[in-house]
Amino acid sequence: MNPSEPRKEEEETRVVVSDEEVEQLKQSLPKELSFGKLELIKYQGFWYAVDTDLFKTSLMFQRHFSAKDSDLIVASFPKTGTTWLKALLYSVVNRFKHPSNQSPLLTHHPHELVYRLENDIYGEAFEYPRPHHLSELPSPRLFHTHLSFTTLPETIKASRCRVLYIARNPLDTIVSFMFFVLKPLKMILGDDFQPTIQDFFEDFCAGKICHGPFFDHVVEYWKQSLEQPNKVLFLKYEDLKEDPTFQLKRVAEFVGMPFSCIEESEGAVEELVEMCSINNLKELEVNKTGVINKIHDKKSYFRKGEVGDWSHYITPTMAERMKKLMEEKFEGTGLSFQLLPH
Ligand code: A3P
Repeated sequence: MNPSEPRKEEEETRVVVSDEEVEQLKQSLPKELSFGKLELIKYQGFWYAVDTDLFKTSLMFQRHFSAKDSDLIVASFPKTGTTWLKALLYSVVNRFKHPSNQSPLLTHHPHELVYRLENDIYGEAFEYPRPHHLSELPSPRLFHTHLSFTTLPETIKASRCRVLYIARNPLDTIVSFMFFVLKPLKMILGDDFQPTIQDFFEDFCAGKICHGPFFDHVVEYWKQSLEQPNKVLFLKYEDLKEDPTFQLKRVAEFVGMPFSCIEESEGAVEELVEMCSINNLKELEVNKTGVINKIHDKKSYFRKGEVGDWSHYITPTMAERMKKLMEEKFEGTGLSFQLLPH
């Protein structure tokens, strides 16, 4: 197949979502400014940056994607451990295809192995080879999305495909987000844009952040995981840090590929955990240089990877405010997050 030919999705999605419609929606939807500068629009309860293609490509994904029952979809709010879960899921699903010393993770960034639907598949910023058509991907197809449960295509909700959601405490999420988006934000808003942690904190708490409100995002998936436990698996970053072996076994069982007694006795679970550890991944040459989607340095996806790193940046007053907000937002849901290491 000629790689320069337009992909089938592209031809079809260009028709499904026209620039005119996107412009009309942008005019009519609620607006807000993040950092007092960055224009956001609210679609189905969640915010999108106006000055990027993300809104359009999210609509394309929402309207055009056709899920298969066998699909496995990582879902997350940004900076909550997506890269880690991609690596773990990829390793579990493909563990019989390659010996661990030939794992594609040694030569590919996790984001090159599990495509983000609204960006990599339906967007144009994707650089590394991607499938000409989604049906070319081996089964089970592994995908990722940052979209809320509400906004997911009906086909994902109606099919028997499974969703693995990873969540993280809001304070570590804010700090991770701050480090990650500073460079792209400066590209959009100019070099004199110098936001403080307080600026990030205020917008995050007010929900004014791309893909936010954070709390709505998390609570939606949490409720779905309770209502449909075979459809949505809810994982917490802090639990993965605490007991990665146990959590990886949960992942394997959820996707229908449990580790056998022999694998467990041979240390296969621990081997995958070690392969996907931040210390291992960040030292791989493939993850040290280059960019993802023309903007994000590959290495910026691997920073500290700790629980409680927020305490070096967030003041006790802000932390108290966040604890109250968590109580308010999670009231009656049974959901809670560990804020500091045990
Ligand atoms: P920090 O910025 O707190 O270090 P995402 O993948 O959703 O963008 O989230 C990025 C966060 O996950 C970053 O957190 C990053 O360091 C951490 N991370 C990436 N890979 C990891 C891994 N293998 N193990 C633990 N944390 C990881």
